[in-house]
Amino acid sequence: MKKVCFVCLGNICRSPMAEFVMKELVGADWQVESRATSSWEHGNPIHTGTQSILQSKGYWFDPNKTSQQVTREDLANFDVIIGMDNQNVTDLRRLSNGQFDQKIHLFCEGGVPDPWYTGDFEETYAIVYQGCRAWLATLS
Ligand code: 4NP
Repeated sequence: MKKVCFVCLGNICRSPMAEFVMKELVGADWQVESRATSSWEHGNPIHTGTQSILQSKGYWFDPNKTSQQVTREDLANFDVIIGMDNQNVTDLRRLSNGQFDQKIHLFCEGGVPDPWYTGDFEETYAIVYQGCRAWLATLS
């Protein structure tokens, strides 16, 4: 079983989107979760924009999923930790402090635009979907 964690700034827009798209692609065999680099949204549910896009594309998501900040224990436990943008990767490397660097990757070249700022959840979804398919191929 592969253990994959997607990480973004707030864990309410991009990384939960990737989590539930990836869960659909890999089925029940893999453990797929998501985390935040910050504690800003701790305990808050998935953004309604991400909920709507997942719903409109026919994905299941956990309505009880709430934002959780990534810990060093997460870095130890997951096999692959994927930051949604370059700043996320920088923050993950800082947390890793050299110990788990080989597990930390950027989701895709250029990173995933943050709909918290752009308001464009469709654009983000298109990039997340392509990226998840690429990660599935890479990790299979
Ligand atoms: P996310 O988007 O990192 O894709 O979940 C954001 C969510 C919340 C904030 C920033 C980005 N915020 O500033 O609270």
